[in-house]
Amino acid sequence: MSEAWHSVIEESSFPEEGKLAVKVGGWHVLLARTDDGFHAVNDRCTHQASLLSGGRIRRGAVMCPLHGARFELATGRCLGSAYRDLRVFPVRLESGMIEVAVPDAPPGMDELPVGI
Ligand code: FES
Repeated sequence: MSEAWHSVIEESSFPEEGKLAVKVGGWHVLLARTDDGFHAVNDRCTHQASLLSGGRIRRGAVMCPLHGARFELATGRCLGSAYRDLRVFPVRLESGMIEVAVPDAPPGMDELPVGI
């Protein structure tokens, strides 16, 4: 599946709280800053499809606000639960701009969050 890079936000404008929910190429993306840089994951919990962007980020992981599942932002790996891992999107910095690569094809129903 091919993918394309999209400019999201200037690094200097990134929110202090360390996370940003954005729609990129039809995908709902949670962009987060951790100690090891920026990471982008599909903004959809693999348990019951809640938006993850409302959750707290701590020690490189996001906690789902609905039932508390935790996902490592760098890898998408589900921590401590048996839910599927998150889809991870490539992130890069280009001339001070944060860019995210998402598939050219829009997300299917099983990739979209509920409650939006
Ligand atoms: S919907 Fe995220 S833990 Fe249940």
